[in-house]
Amino acid sequence: MSDTDMSDTTTSDTSAPTPVLEAVGLRKTFGDFVAVDGVDLSLAAGASLAVVGESGSGKTTTARMVAGLEVPTAGAVRWNGRSLPGHRARTAVRRSFAQDVQMVFQDPYASLDRRQRVDDSISEVLSHHTDLRGSALTRRAAELLDQVGLGTRQARSLPRALSGGQRQRVAIARAVAVRPRVLVLDEAVAALDVSVQAQIVTLLRELREQSGIAYLFITHDLGIVQHICEDIVVMHRGRVVERGRTVSVLERPEAPYTRKLIGSVPRRGWTPKRADTTP
Ligand SMILES: Nc1ncnc2c1ncn2[C@@H]1O[C@H](COP(=O)(O)OP(=O)(O)OP(=O)(O)O)[C@@H](O)[C@H]1O
Ligand SMILES: [Mg+2]
Repeated sequence: MSDTDMSDTTTSDTSAPTPVLEAVGLRKTFGDFVAVDGVDLSLAAGASLAVVGESGSGKTTTARMVAGLEVPTAGAVRWNGRSLPGHRARTAVRRSFAQDVQMVFQDPYASLDRRQRVDDSISEVLSHHTDLRGSALTRRAAELLDQVGLGTRQARSLPRALSGGQRQRVAIARAVAVRPRVLVLDEAVAALDVSVQAQIVTLLRELREQSGIAYLFITHDLGIVQHICEDIVVMHRGRVVERGRTVSVLERPEAPYTRKLIGSVPRRGWTPKRADTTP
């Protein structure tokens, strides 16, 4: 990002800082079907916001619009108070946005090159987005892999030789390599078993503490959100039905749908009938 693109969050202005990412009235239709309907989101620098809701509620569609991968039918996405760059924007502006917002998906295997060694895939991102070359680049790649808990043996491996949790660590290392301001994580831990989920959640917490990165954390798993996000929005059929601090929303849900969603989490006495949130 160029100096002139910097938001006023770094000035001594006492008014509320400009959100790093803001979505206003986002709407997406596919033919006659309304997938997302008037969604507003606001993410402060270094904050962590969960988007929860059942399957098909519009979470991924919202995330893709926010990350600039999908064009909204209506509404706007603002980045540091500026509109998201369109296809006709200057390459430098688009590249700066692409660098500032990174996405991590549920299946890291799909976004990793199967023939490329892990360390090479990190080096590739670094050489594309930074001025690092030669031994400085190799050092930084090793440092990033170390930061996400991967050692030399894994660094020299192909993705297929890694476990699901290790592959997700590589995807996270690639995403944070470009020092983004926002990481959009779409069901990033959904495919992992519970103990590996816990490790990745801890890793994400540490990365945020160290770097001040902000997270938009998309999940259908209510058990995880309070460990990673201070704020939450609940989506149902493309709309936001409730929003607030995660602790209050989970402890004292106000919207009937949120109550149902919380009631559907498997625990003692869980039955498929009780868990079904369809009216
Ligand atoms: N490209 C598309 N074409 C047509 N319909 C789509 C498309 N993408 C999404 N949809 C529809 O929009 C709705 C919302 O989908 P979305 O993927 O955003 O849900 P989600 O909340 O992420 O669900 P999940 O938890 O299962 O990932 C769904 O009904 C889906 O079928
Ligand atoms: Mg989804």
